[in-house]
Amino acid sequence: MSETGSEQTEAWTILRMLQWTTDHLKKYGSSSPRLDAEVLLAHARNCQRIDLYAAFNEEPPEAVKAVFRDLVKRRAKGEPVAYLVGKKEFFSLSFLVNNATLIPRNETEHIITECIDRIKKNPPQSPLRIADVCTGSGCIAVTIAKECQRLGFPAELIAMDLSNEALEVAKQNIQLHNVQNSVETLQGDLLDTIPENSCDFILSNPPYISDEEYLKLDKSVRDYEPKMALVSSPSGLEIIKRLIDQATSKLKTGGWLIFEHSPMIAQECNSQLSQSKTPTGPWSDIRLVKDLAGLARVSIARKP
Ligand SMILES: C[S@@+](CC[C@H](N)C(=O)[O-])C[C@H]1O[C@@H](n2cnc3c(N)ncnc32)[C@H](O)[C@@H]1O
Repeated sequence: MSETGSEQTEAWTILRMLQWTTDHLKKYGSSSPRLDAEVLLAHARNCQRIDLYAAFNEEPPEAVKAVFRDLVKRRAKGEPVAYLVGKKEFFSLSFLVNNATLIPRNETEHIITECIDRIKKNPPQSPLRIADVCTGSGCIAVTIAKECQRLGFPAELIAMDLSNEALEVAKQNIQLHNVQNSVETLQGDLLDTIPENSCDFILSNPPYISDEEYLKLDKSVRDYEPKMALVSSPSGLEIIKRLIDQATSKLKTGGWLIFEHSPMIAQECNSQLSQSKTPTGPWSDIRLVKDLAGLARVSIARKP
């Protein structure tokens, strides 16, 4: 937004700022330049995106323009919008994020619907024990807790992660959504720290990118999102194999394992489940769930 020549007289209204920024971010490779511009300007102006539409002809104060200019510069260098504004929507809830946490993705919402559908089919008489392993921002644990609260299902959740920095963010989201009575946090390697036969559901969006795939990810993902949230070295399957193995003993009889993976390793996840045995027999109800793009994204299995 430089003012040169004839542009000097034209006011930097909200509409003009949005138009200029949309073109600018497009040139720098954003796939959603208009949306980015609106989210960043709403953040700088401390308002909702919708409020911008009623104020197209207003010229924001210099302080707002300065904050916006800085955000746009950082966005043009590839920094994700979610980190710039410190939050991201997931299952219609707003989650705080920072560079210690993965930015929640829409695909992960399938874990929520698959879990809640199963709870609805078999409403619990006593509190369900649900573990969200690899919780990051806590988006899965908090959303399930909110849904159970809304539907009147008693549930106790454990949000677990290896990263203390991620757990700090998860704790803030637990407070923000007022579910501290039903969600606790626990630091540790996968399910190491919880007792055997203790969970009705084990939910997870674990790291599942191979070393090779990591090199092909968008530069902005590699530059800004935590590598430990993404990569399971070297093939992408290592953490999932350990998760399946631990789940065989940590689930109660009849308990469900629901986890996300890349479509590229969906068949390997399926074979892994088919070959693995729980102490009470082979996994039952093994299923692959497709995402909205038709790609096999989530695996589900039940301990018999
Ligand atoms: C793909 S992110 C998922 C975050 C969040 N659940 C979501 O869906 O947005 C994976 C998370 O796993 C954590 N993690 C990586 N290795 C782990 C391990 N061995 N045990 C527990 N957590 C681990 C990372 O710190 C990261 O927060």
